[in-house]
This record gives sequence, structure tokens and C-alpha cells, in this order.
Amino acid sequence: MNSRADQYWGFWPLLPLYPFGQRRTLRRELVPGQVWSFEQLQGVFFVAVPIRMTAVKLKAGLLLYAPVAATAECIGLVRELEAEHGPVLSIVHPTSSGLEHKVGVPAMARAFPQAEVWVTPGQWSFPLPLPLSWLGFPSRRTRVLFEDGLPHEDELTWVQLGPVPLGPGPFCEATVLHQASGSLLCTDGLIAVSERWPELLDLDPKPMLYHGRNDGLEPMDDCPERRLRGWKRLVLFATCLKPRAVEQVWRSYPFRWQPGWEADFDAISRGAQLRVAPILEDLVFPRHRQQMTQWMRHCAELPVQRLVPAHFDAPIACSPAQFDALAEAWEQQDEPQAEQLDRSFLRAFNRQIERLGLVPKA
Ligand SMILES: [Fe+2]
Repeated sequence: MNSRADQYWGFWPLLPLYPFGQRRTLRRELVPGQVWSFEQLQGVFFVAVPIRMTAVKLKAGLLLYAPVAATAECIGLVRELEAEHGPVLSIVHPTSSGLEHKVGVPAMARAFPQAEVWVTPGQWSFPLPLPLSWLGFPSRRTRVLFEDGLPHEDELTWVQLGPVPLGPGPFCEATVLHQASGSLLCTDGLIAVSERWPELLDLDPKPMLYHGRNDGLEPMDDCPERRLRGWKRLVLFATCLKPRAVEQVWRSYPFRWQPGWEADFDAISRGAQLRVAPILEDLVFPRHRQQMTQWMRHCAELPVQRLVPAHFDAPIACSPAQFDALAEAWEQQDEPQAEQLDRSFLRAFNRQIERLGLVPKA
């Protein structure tokens, strides 16, 4: 199950992100016999980091959390689990704002026509407010978490993060504890970033080698040092959008990194500690910090052993005490981190590579 045809994803024009129509899926068993992650690369031309769907075993079958692209390869990997653990019972779209998690849901729902589909409250689309059925969600079997009920409540504990009002619609995330394994699934809220790059990037190291160069004349030869440099820079792009230490230079190679840029990676990573994602910290929570505190305090009351977010490291070992400590630190921090954000950078970058014909026009 790893031919290029099996990795083809026909819906990529909906969200034209690298690696476009070709998506490899890596399945990893995070908790033996109970929790699996399905990872695919996703990003804007060469700023590609993995995105994760998680499957958990229930008594009568499986639940899929945060679907990725339903390629033949990915569906085949889920079917292998179904053969052993029972059918996919529920598919959960756990965020109201992360488009990268929404775009794969309708195709995954079609692949498992018996499954119920659950979404977070406050779904919105931009620029037009289209109903979910127009976006391909099956209306007969799509229900809203917390409003229409909660699936598998005897085996799962659901905790809502948000809603936080944003410009076009709210930020809201449905997180869930799989009681049998002590695994808490979340989407974008918390991350941990380590120097160990994801296994998936070893299968397609081009993005790391591209960014691991210091100038456009340097070859993309493969070596661990270049991979690590490239991984750290991918992290900075993916978490900050416009890293402070990079200047854009439009010619053969578009980036020039200032000395000391690695300190910015260390500031994001904090030695691979669990933390609130920088983009949320700066864009979503500055005026609604209390909602993050409430969610952390709620998680601290649950028997959590590990966290599985949709991005970066997973699983992350953690305990209720760590959630309390995180809430404490979050409450005491008056001002959000001064990580400079500049969304115009990647937009300009996109326009540039569109003009050069490197990516299809959005
Ligand atoms: Fe996300």
C-alpha cells in the first residue's frame, strides 16, 4: 500500500498545499492495541510539517479524530485496524477554525458511510457562510458536539476549549480523553516541539534539505546537520509564520537567516516542553486567556497520562499535575509572548512562487 496511485488525493485543489496531490500516510501505534496516529505532510510550498489524525479503539469499534486526506493508502491503513478492532463508528472534526483539519472530513465520511460524523459548534466558512452540507458533510449523519450530545460517553470524556470569538467566526476545539489508555486528544491548542524531526520527514526529506541550506548555491546534499537545520527552520515557519531572524531575498533562494536564529527555535521548543501553540497564544487568546485556563484546569482533573495533538510531537507523556502547572504559568503571564507575527510574509511568498509557476494558482 505505498504506490503513488494509493497516495493520490483528488481534493487537493480545495486547499492547495505541498505536497499537493501526492500524500504519503505514516501510521504509528502510539499505545499498543489502543491508539494510532496517521500522519501526512502538509504545508505551503516546502514549509511542510506533518498533520495528524488519531484513531482510538472503543469496545465496539474505532473513532477517528481530526481526519487527514482520505487517500487509498490512508483508507487501507484504517481498514487494517477495522479488520482487527471493529468498524469506524465515529468521525470527529474537532475544530471550528482549522481549515487544514476540515478539508479532509467529507471524503473520510464517504469512505466510512456507516460512521456518525461529529463537528464542533460554531462551524464557519470563509468568504461565504455556506452550510456544512454544501461543503460535503453528510447532513443525515452529521451532529454537533456538546449541542446534539456526545458520542461514546461511557468510554470517552469530552472537554470543550472555547469558543473564543474571532473575526470571521469562533475558535473552538473539542478535546477528548480516551479513558482506557489515559490519552487526551487535542487539535491545535497545545504542542511540544523537539529537535527530533518527525519520522515522516525522513521519508520525504526534501523540505528539510531545502531549508537546511544557508544560501541558494549550497547543494541539497543529505546529512544529519542539514536535516536538523532544515527541521528547526520549518518549525519556525510553521509556528511563527514570519520568523524574526529571516530576511526574504527573492532570487534563486528566498531566505537569509541572521546569526543567532537557533535561539528562536529554542524559545519555541523550550526543551520539548508542552506549551500553548504560539499562533494561538498571540492571535486567539490575548483577550480570552481565562478560557484556556479553564480548559487546562478541567484537564488537570482527568486521569491524563499522555497528550496527542494534531501537530508536532506525539505522544507527549503528561500528568494532571503538569496541567495544573501549565495553568499556573499561563495565569501568571500577563502579556503574551512577544513572538513577532507577520502573515503578509507567507502570502507574498505564495504570490512569488505562483508567478514562478512552482505551485498551481490558488
Ligand atoms: Fe491545525
